[in-house]
Amino acid sequence: MRNIGLSSPFLEGELTNPQYNLFYDAPATIFIFTAPGILTPGTDASLAAGNMMLASSSLGLGSCYIGMALGLGKDRDFMNELNVPDDHILKGIVILGYPKSDSGPSQRADPQTLSWIY
Ligand SMILES: Cc1cc2nc3c(=O)[nH]c(=O)nc-3n(C[C@H](O)[C@H](O)[C@H](O)COP(=O)(O)O)c2cc1C
Repeated sequence: MRNIGLSSPFLEGELTNPQYNLFYDAPATIFIFTAPGILTPGTDASLAAGNMMLASSSLGLGSCYIGMALGLGKDRDFMNELNVPDDHILKGIVILGYPKSDSGPSQRADPQTLSWIY
């Protein structure tokens, strides 16, 4: 299991669990922080993450959103190590790497239409 080179009790707990590889040994992890005073930080960070994932795909890279690691944002030592100001919030994490295979499109459930407005 690969450590991402940053220390944190949260990460140590996850990284020592042999059943779970939080970052899948990905060669790159992007942490997205939001600054104070933003009206919709979660939405903004999610859109940024989604656009990074689309752009990475167009470059032949694979990506995965890692919501399970967002608890790192509560870890002040981790935030300090990345020079994140106290008033910034960790709102998104994306890993990038070279896919071992082409997984193709995933199964989609049919959309559920709640109502039509004319
Ligand atoms: C908000 C959010 C958080 C996610 N967190 C994780 C995660 O921590 N670990 C993980 O392996 N995948 C995570 N994923 C990826 C999903 O498990 C899933 O693989 C991805 O959304 C693709 O879905 P699809 O199979 O419907 O295309 C997350 C996805 C979303 C949207």
